[in-house]
Amino acid sequence: MRVLVIGGGGREHALVLGLMRDPAVTAVIAAPGSPGIAEAATEQRDVDILSPDAVAGLAVEVEADLVVVGPEAPLVAGVADAVRAKGIPCFGPSGSAARLEGSKDFAKQVMTAAKVPTARAFTCSTPAEAARALDTFGAPYVVKNDGLAAGKGVVVTDDRAAALAHAAECGRVVIEEYLDGPEVSLFVVTDGVSAVPLLPAQDFKRIFDGDEGPNTGGMGAYAPLPWTPPNLVEHVMATVAHPTLQQMREAGTPFSGLLYIGLAITVGGPKVIEFNARFGDPETQSVLALLDTPLGGLLYAAATGELAGHPELQWKDAFSVTVVLASAGYPASARTGDEITGADGLIHAGTRRDADGVLRSAGGRVLCATATGHDLHAARAAAYELLSHVDLPGGQYRTDIALAAEEGRVVSPWR
Ligand code: AMP
Ligand code: GLY
Repeated sequence: MRVLVIGGGGREHALVLGLMRDPAVTAVIAAPGSPGIAEAATEQRDVDILSPDAVAGLAVEVEADLVVVGPEAPLVAGVADAVRAKGIPCFGPSGSAARLEGSKDFAKQVMTAAKVPTARAFTCSTPAEAARALDTFGAPYVVKNDGLAAGKGVVVTDDRAAALAHAAECGRVVIEEYLDGPEVSLFVVTDGVSAVPLLPAQDFKRIFDGDEGPNTGGMGAYAPLPWTPPNLVEHVMATVAHPTLQQMREAGTPFSGLLYIGLAITVGGPKVIEFNARFGDPETQSVLALLDTPLGGLLYAAATGELAGHPELQWKDAFSVTVVLASAGYPASARTGDEITGADGLIHAGTRRDADGVLRSAGGRVLCATATGHDLHAARAAAYELLSHVDLPGGQYRTDIALAAEEGRVVSPWR
């Protein structure tokens, strides 16, 4: 099987590594890839990932048996539709179904129709509407840009003026009730009807230790979660995943690909914070490091409507930790072009290799150190050991990824 992977971040690097481990995968072509992916994949090509025609054309040209679309923007742009129109199986939802991520307002409508537990919310387009919504819920205030914002469109603050300012800046926002409780990312592989959950993971959105500072795309992750009630995944599949998929089918926009369910575990049970239409980054790096089932076969089954017949997933009996190394100034204004050394064995999130052969930073999140261990302590130690060899001037990373879980300080308020 020849697989074309679209994207070039840390998630796509992890997907390429996973696909290359599948004995049924004969070639992985990555576009546009990255210096890290160039070493892992069979071949790298350049493409405008936001152009459905260009991606579909490339899929035909490289004789892909399967296309896997990593990031959300091409999905929202309709890349999966164009690939399927050429008769090539594609792992990723249609442009209409990707609105589950592309519009917070659309996602809320689907959740309401499907009776999925989530925060109460108002969609607001004027300062007066925003002010009324903020005062309905009180602090802490949660204000979300309605459109795609690469994980940075959300402001959670006790400062009413800051909440109003974010609303004014975004134009159209969703303002919602604050959900209190530890967060879980659950990835569900689906062909639109059947659905298979991966191991639950947790990511760390804030830039600084102790969950301080602004939101980022994600500063680290670990899996599985030792602190969740044993029936959590089953419960979320029954109350969130299946009702959502059914609602999407009934609306005529069936969702296939990866449904990313972001949850808060509140006293009243798990509630949805967000849906994404693709694998999460950096959780994917941790989750796929534990998957023993061949990845290509799983994604192909989902892309061809054959997931019901797929064997049960096999996982390593281990834990996995990912620590992100971000550039100076991230997330406000990431500095790029810094020289990187010692990146062997790391996943590349935002790097480039210049003509002189030097590896340089090329994005906010630069590298990911992913490691496994028999417990969280061992996995953490191994990930930070890997990171200790890297030099990136001004680089920032959190020192407390998975630490609270390792120390038993994460408690589910719901059983
Ligand atoms: P989102 O892009 O919707 O995932 O939001 C980014 C982050 O903001 C989440 O991971 C949460 O940490 C936080 N957040 C979003 N919505 C809420 C909410 N209703 N209550 C509490 N925190 C939230
Ligand atoms: N880790 C958060 C995301 O991928 O959106």
